[in-house]
Amino acid sequence: MSAYIEKFVQFCDSEFGKKVMKKEAEYVYNELRNYRKILDVGCGLGSFEQNLPSLNIIGLDISKEILEKARKRSDKTFVQGKAEELQFKDSTFDAVFTVTTLEFLDDYQNAVKEIARVTKPKGKLLVMLLNPKSEYFREEIKKPGDYFKRIKHYNLKEIRDYISLFYTIIKEENFLGIRGNHVFDTDDERYSSLYVIVGINMERDV
Ligand SMILES: C[S@@+](CC[C@H](N)C(=O)[O-])C[C@H]1O[C@@H](n2cnc3c(N)ncnc32)[C@H](O)[C@@H]1O
Repeated sequence: MSAYIEKFVQFCDSEFGKKVMKKEAEYVYNELRNYRKILDVGCGLGSFEQNLPSLNIIGLDISKEILEKARKRSDKTFVQGKAEELQFKDSTFDAVFTVTTLEFLDDYQNAVKEIARVTKPKGKLLVMLLNPKSEYFREEIKKPGDYFKRIKHYNLKEIRDYISLFYTIIKEENFLGIRGNHVFDTDDERYSSLYVIVGINMERDV
């Protein structure tokens, strides 16, 4: 198993990781519970699929190894694919979400473009990005071999502005306070480990 997947498995299975995931899953549930067909881009170990059994989610990830693990954790459908070249037809999904993935991609712009293409007009997009200004992020990235070091895009506003070319942004907020192992509600940028963007897909010419 590659070292980073091993670390990610340890994180997801830790008490701390479970607390983080519970909060994130609640957020996704509240935003997407009324949407029928949902795509999770960069689904990783399938934690959302596992935690949100009532939602009709397809998990997509580039890593075959991680998908094998996801399939052992949830009965939902998982597909191997590349965010920048999605294998779905136009307007396939009512909603798409992507959690701590876009900022790691070389070409997040093509991923956003592709996500918009496969989302129905007026469908929803929910994006969660790591907040590099948070205490949690600044502590984690100091650790040798930390996955956060692989981040390619630190400018969240730039990602937001690109998303706004395809989606009408209806919500933007700091989310998920972390201090040490304590997970709490806050919108204080210093402690919010995530930045959330929610948008509605614009009508487009076909
Ligand atoms: C930090 S993990 C987040 C996993 C999951 N969303 C979560 O929050 O638990 C980022 C995931 O994106 C996947 N990934 C990286 N590049 C990708 C790409 N080009 N297309 C699709 N998935 C990709 C990785 O394999 C990894 O599982």
